[in-house]
Amino acid sequence: MNILRFLTAGESHGKALVGIIEKIPSGMALSSEDIDDELKRRQLGYGRGGRMKIEQDRAQILSGVRWGKTIGSPIALLIENRDWMNWQEGMSSESVHEGSLAPVTKPRPGHADLGGALKYNHKDVRNVLERSSARETAMKVALGAIARKFLSFFSVHIGSCVTQIGTAAMPETMLNELRSRLAVPDFLKKIDASPVRCPDADTAGNMTALIDKAQQNGDSLGGRFEVVAAGIPAGLGSHIQWDRRLNGMLSQAFMGIQAIKGVEIGDGFACSDKFGSQVMDEIFYRDPEPDNKQQPSEGGIGFYRLTNHAGGIEGGITNGMPVVVRAVMKPIPTLKKPLHSIDLITKESLKAAYERSDTCAVPAAAVIGEAMAALVIADAFLEKFGGDSLDETKRNYDAYIDYLKKF
Ligand SMILES: Cc1cc2nc3c(=O)[nH]c(=O)nc-3n(C[C@H](O)[C@H](O)[C@H](O)COP(=O)(O)O)c2cc1C
Repeated sequence: MNILRFLTAGESHGKALVGIIEKIPSGMALSSEDIDDELKRRQLGYGRGGRMKIEQDRAQILSGVRWGKTIGSPIALLIENRDWMNWQEGMSSESVHEGSLAPVTKPRPGHADLGGALKYNHKDVRNVLERSSARETAMKVALGAIARKFLSFFSVHIGSCVTQIGTAAMPETMLNELRSRLAVPDFLKKIDASPVRCPDADTAGNMTALIDKAQQNGDSLGGRFEVVAAGIPAGLGSHIQWDRRLNGMLSQAFMGIQAIKGVEIGDGFACSDKFGSQVMDEIFYRDPEPDNKQQPSEGGIGFYRLTNHAGGIEGGITNGMPVVVRAVMKPIPTLKKPLHSIDLITKESLKAAYERSDTCAVPAAAVIGEAMAALVIADAFLEKFGGDSLDETKRNYDAYIDYLKKF
């Protein structure tokens, strides 16, 4: 990310998660409800473990907002971990509490446990797992909510759905038809109401049945999801350097989500067995009306496409079509029926540690994907349009849209 910067800190069972985001322009209305609404969406989903029942995340805004509006300074957020009350000594920062909790010495395959212990010279895997846990994604979503609010002033809408859990997959034809609606706020509400974030009732039923089966077997599941951002003007990102390509930035952001193992932009891997003529989105033009209000998916103004195989990005630059990112989440690694491991201290063969865990978290990962997309796209907006106040960013944006209309 070039302009917008953010950092998170906090352990899963520590006192709180904290986050700082810098470079959101001044004068933008922002309330803790804007953030809490997104946090609630992350906590939904069939197959989550007991932790989500304990935590009802709420963000406190510590800085950067005064009387309901951003003031241009870094925005700091805090989300308390309610579970902290059960871990006050075990996760205490004070040396007097050392040894109050038995060390975790049985690294779980699929987690940062072993690599982290070796790298940081820890004989207690808790020192690794507390931070590698996806509890941190609550703060990603909170910071993403701020980016999302910023983008809403430019009619950018972001939505997601789960397309596959285990072998239960939504038919590709149905997905093509759905894609244009995914980011429409009313439709998004419908998807939010599905326990697996899947708008097709038959597929959703298959998904929940599979999750039940995995749970009964002490096993877990992963899947696929898709994030769509509509209302994006042509010209964000750049072809001029590898690290300025918007598809590259989105891929890194999605791969930065815990358990994400693959990212596609638009048709992605499906392009491999097609002819060029089946994959490129042909270019058309219609004269923009003088009072033409920019519609979602019309960010190229006069120039438009009838298809969107490219997922809205060509040569690292947005082309005015909705940006489509698809991702694969691997199954949850902590298993009730644990896999083989080795004790870090004694080197004896044993089963990996089990700690209360989700069976499937793909619906939550989709909401986290929306947040990461919002952060990357907001960054690209600020790079293109600049502005220290929202009014200034809007003036620059409006001038650019006028320019596109006259191009
Ligand atoms: C929303 C979400 C919830 C998750 N919940 C769990 C969980 O309950 N138990 C678990 O072992 N892993 C869970 N994971 C997956 C791990 O965080 C992830 O696999 C781990 O950090 C290892 O990182 P890697 O898979 O990217 O290599 C979750 C991931 C996400 C995105």
